[in-house]
Amino acid sequence: MKNISEARFLNEMRSVSANMYRLGWDERNGGNISYLLEQDEIADFLDPGSVIRKIPLGFDARALSGKIFLVTGSGKYFKNIDRDPENNLGIFRISGDGSTAELLWGYADGGQFTSELPAHLMSHCARLSVDPENRIVMHCHPTYTLALNYVHVLDEKQLTHTLWQMCTECIVVFPDGVGVLPWMLCGTNEIGEATAKKMEAFRLVVWGMHGIYGAGKTMDEVFGLIETVEKAAQIYMLTCHMPRIGTIKDEELRELAESFGVSYRRDFLDI
Ligand code: 13P
Ligand code: ZN
Repeated sequence: MKNISEARFLNEMRSVSANMYRLGWDERNGGNISYLLEQDEIADFLDPGSVIRKIPLGFDARALSGKIFLVTGSGKYFKNIDRDPENNLGIFRISGDGSTAELLWGYADGGQFTSELPAHLMSHCARLSVDPENRIVMHCHPTYTLALNYVHVLDEKQLTHTLWQMCTECIVVFPDGVGVLPWMLCGTNEIGEATAKKMEAFRLVVWGMHGIYGAGKTMDEVFGLIETVEKAAQIYMLTCHMPRIGTIKDEELRELAESFGVSYRRDFLDI
């Protein structure tokens, strides 16, 4: 067996969480990430027959039974993940009956997966149904995205439209737009179900007055989605209290989307 510190997936998780922390998206234990792993990817590092302990999931994850995930720990600080992955992360398999996480590595101090696991696993299911290559779900609390929530109407069309107008590349990066949920109690199956429902149509979902979820095939894709929304939100927050002189017009947004050949939410434009 090779040492897991050599595993690509683990090093991706360490470096992306360090970047998220550095950017101020994950204060204290804010935020969580889940990474769907292939059997072959773990084969060199872990014995799939050696289960350290079993942790009840608290919801029915039968649709994902047998699947293996690398997931941040609940209450764990993002700033510590890179230097101490074994206490701050865990790798587990969903049991055959979908009721339990079978821990294969990590949560070494007796901890467990993020309290947002319902939203993560339900979102994986929803995204896999539209994109079989989806592997990442990421949640964080980016500063300007959150600030925007307090001064902008929380409506999918209007919020997406505002973000698209803030940087020329936005409609190309997230042509599918941003889904929005009102403030809801976090860490529950209910917010998990609501998030997953949105994830059928969006790779990005804003949790009102809380943060954002992103999903996609790779860490880079998902990090890039959230990074682009955060940049747009920053431009909005830097300019919203000033007279607006320039803007990207809806005809120009359409021209961009058509020129880059992306399938975009036409109903989010007023043309
Ligand atoms: P966890 O520490 O349980 O991952 O919770 C952090 C968070 O962001 C809740 O929404
Ligand atoms: Zn959160």
